[in-house]
Amino acid sequence: MINILVLGSGGREHALAWKITQSPLCNHLYVAPGNSGTATIAHNLDISVNDFQAIKASVLEHKIEMIVVGPEDPLVHGIHDVFLNDSDLKHIAVIGPQQAAAQLEGSKEFAKEFLYRHNIPTAAYQSFTANELEQGYEFLNTLNPPYVLKADGLAAGKGVLIIDTLEEAKSELKNMLVDSKFGAASTKVVIEEFLDGIELSCFVLTDGIHYKILPTAKDYKRIGEGDTGLNTGGMGAISPVPFADDILMQKIEERIVKPTVEGLKKDQLPYNGFIFIGLIVVNNEPLVIEYNVRMGDPETEAVIPRINTDLVELFLAVKNQTLDQIKLDINPQSATTVMLVSGGYPEAYEKGKEIHGITEVKEALVFHAGAKLENQSTVTSGGRVMAITAFGPDYKSALNIAYSEISKINFEGINYRTDLGFDL
Ligand code: AMP
Ligand code: GLY
Repeated sequence: MINILVLGSGGREHALAWKITQSPLCNHLYVAPGNSGTATIAHNLDISVNDFQAIKASVLEHKIEMIVVGPEDPLVHGIHDVFLNDSDLKHIAVIGPQQAAAQLEGSKEFAKEFLYRHNIPTAAYQSFTANELEQGYEFLNTLNPPYVLKADGLAAGKGVLIIDTLEEAKSELKNMLVDSKFGAASTKVVIEEFLDGIELSCFVLTDGIHYKILPTAKDYKRIGEGDTGLNTGGMGAISPVPFADDILMQKIEERIVKPTVEGLKKDQLPYNGFIFIGLIVVNNEPLVIEYNVRMGDPETEAVIPRINTDLVELFLAVKNQTLDQIKLDINPQSATTVMLVSGGYPEAYEKGKEIHGITEVKEALVFHAGAKLENQSTVTSGGRVMAITAFGPDYKSALNIAYSEISKINFEGINYRTDLGFDL
């Protein structure tokens, strides 16, 4: 039995914490900073995910032996390396890659170079800095619309622009490179060929040698019905993806997952953790759109509940590089997750609205995200407030249950998409 710390405060971290508490291998569970949901099943620690000194102090104080890193930020900033380089901490299992490998998410150019080096299918691209603006324009001239411009660095999920006209693409390229539209993140810009296809996400857990492919998921990023309006952190997810049949999954494994894990090994990029591979399928052929070095949110809230295998056992195998010795047991049912969001989100919205009816939900899982406890009530504290996950024999029946359970929950301004799966 070990003490475990989950870093993060979203629905993803509530779902990870919920699963970890079911493990007989877990003694005390801590979440930093956590939310009102994790407070009901674990001890929340009031520590920011990037405050490595405070995390160290807490780890020693609470005799924590495993840290599960939810978001990308601490990984890209090297939390795993900080632990490995500290004699007090180096024995602790950190689930999440070291800094060098975390560049797969921290730098789009690094990811593209990795994909090319290992012959993994992806969109054609070139990258440019401010003094290569003219070359950037010339490359845009050779492409067909729409144009895909990506800030190289982390831009809180906002660094990708898809632009219809050449003129606007050139002007945005200048905004990014010269006028620092995304700050330091757009010092370099990757310009990519546009791929027209259907997206899905593949999740992999690796110990650096072996890997397990976790359930697939599809997320819904736009605020509006029919995938319209502004991008959000994610309005819902469906797992498994109905069109990800055995033939497609075999292509994904052979052409993408295997060469990714082998590429990490060849490049001497130690990796112990989740790889989230964003894919697009064009004419039945999968290509990589992006790597993330963590689980997705809200995909985690649909994917993790479908894993029957003990998550702590899986994480210990990641630490010990014995993932090949574990059999992954997946619930064949579909899981669908619907995000309840604050009115106005992803633009300005109000916080502090009391959330009613959570305990009335009996047929679905409720994962808190932007929600906190205040004077014994649960109130909204963010744009994405909570994720409701329901199961069914197929995604439609799972969605019906999710929507019927959601009708029991209310807070002022509540909003959610009612059309998940419309495109399947
Ligand atoms: P990313 O942050 O790289 O996942 O990009 C955000 C979104 O932009 C993706 O989920 C896709 O919907 C879209 N996207 C990114 N790259 C491309 C591409 N090469 N072709 C078409 N759509 C893309
Ligand atoms: N749902 C997309 C992400 O977590 O990046």
